[in-house]
Amino acid sequence: MLRLPEDFIFGGATAAYQAEGATKKGGKGPVAWDEFLEKQGRFLADPASDFYHQYPQDIALCKKFGVNGLRLSIAWSRIFPDGTGEVNQEGVDFYHKVFAECEKEGVLPFVTLHHFDTPKRLFDQGDFLNRDTMDAFVSYAQFCFEEFTEVRYWSTFNEIYPVASNQYLLGVFPPGIRFNLGSTIQCLHNMMVAHARVINIFKDNKYPGEIGVVHSLEPKYPASDSEEDKHAAFLDDALSVRFLLDATYLGHYSDETMQALKEICEANDASYTFLDEDFTEMEKASHRNDYLGINHYQCHFVKAYDGESQVHHNGTGDKGTSVYKIKGIGERVYKEGVPRTDWDWIIYPEGMYDLLLRIQKEYPHYNKIYITENGMGYKDEFEDGIIMDKPRIDYLRVYLNELSKAISAGVNVKGYFLWSLMDVFSWSNGYNKRYGLFYVDFETQKRYPKESAYWYKLVSETKTII
Ligand code: BG6
Repeated sequence: MLRLPEDFIFGGATAAYQAEGATKKGGKGPVAWDEFLEKQGRFLADPASDFYHQYPQDIALCKKFGVNGLRLSIAWSRIFPDGTGEVNQEGVDFYHKVFAECEKEGVLPFVTLHHFDTPKRLFDQGDFLNRDTMDAFVSYAQFCFEEFTEVRYWSTFNEIYPVASNQYLLGVFPPGIRFNLGSTIQCLHNMMVAHARVINIFKDNKYPGEIGVVHSLEPKYPASDSEEDKHAAFLDDALSVRFLLDATYLGHYSDETMQALKEICEANDASYTFLDEDFTEMEKASHRNDYLGINHYQCHFVKAYDGESQVHHNGTGDKGTSVYKIKGIGERVYKEGVPRTDWDWIIYPEGMYDLLLRIQKEYPHYNKIYITENGMGYKDEFEDGIIMDKPRIDYLRVYLNELSKAISAGVNVKGYFLWSLMDVFSWSNGYNKRYGLFYVDFETQKRYPKESAYWYKLVSETKTII
């Protein structure tokens, strides 16, 4: 059995909009998701897990089950209902209370400033395609650093690639735009610049604690040995992985990334603008990240594709319904013998090892890493009064094993945050895709520890992957 270091953080992850509920309470301002979900009519983000009221219970559960780190995000529009301007004191007080509860229970809060929830007024003006949003984000971040002095671990953004691609390429996040590669690239870049500006402000002002960014990094493997498939995997990787790592750690885009962007843009008649001043900020920030947060659930096998773009998002758990073919990039396919979840997420734990070793090799000054999300979406059901989520435990075990092997190979990983602490609302899947260690009855808001919660407790207590 493999082990993890004595000082390792065994955390649980959440996000404001997916856990808090109370979307219209406590002076919170609107976000684009409120209207988007209402129009879709499938599900709403209320009540979610009602963390807004249940947080003492959830933080107590952390302590009871060996979860010594809690990843959560601040809802920007709870602090600034309009994105800028007047502060909502009730929102500020709420997060102080949450952090005090963490302190009381000995649970370390890891706080993300933006987890998919730009305030609606700014979103409607173009979100991060509009440089005013970058300015507003920097001011909001600085406000949080000045106000929440009890926080020691900050992340700027959660998952810049999924923000850009779900908003402008796949259309499953508001504003629901598809196949716009120019906006996708522009959004990626602008968010990376905003990240860099916040890092620089944090370091220039010597705020206490550590700061980093959370990227979703899903390695791409060619579906076959053919040169065409290898090239498709290269293009997909350049846009969704290398772009972010280059921006974070080089402060510019490598030749490989620029070559891929050129090809992708030519095929899609797309364009973008990178300003010189952006690279000044990015270069300056590139050696100032205290850590990299990695959200990693799956990888992709990519095949060459020369048709028009087509996608279908499996947001229902009907296995085999996903379609992902992007003009000028490639097609993501399943691979014989490689398992996947009901939502078609490919279970390939070796991908986590490969990814960590790649970062160590290609970006050697990465400093340290936290796995900020990893977990398995599953249709949990009670059996004799308990959720026996064996497939989830199997998933977690194999991923933690690969993580432990990467640490043995010299990668500096300091902690792991399981997605999710308790069942939460899922953006494009609603409430039947559950990830939590604790089952949530969304009507009564009662929590029930799943078999995986007992397993995780033992892993955390013994530092052994059983
Ligand atoms: C990550 C996000 O992409 O994956 C979370 O940071 C999200 O917010 C999680 O919920 C799982 O994704 P999904 O779509 O299955 O809920």
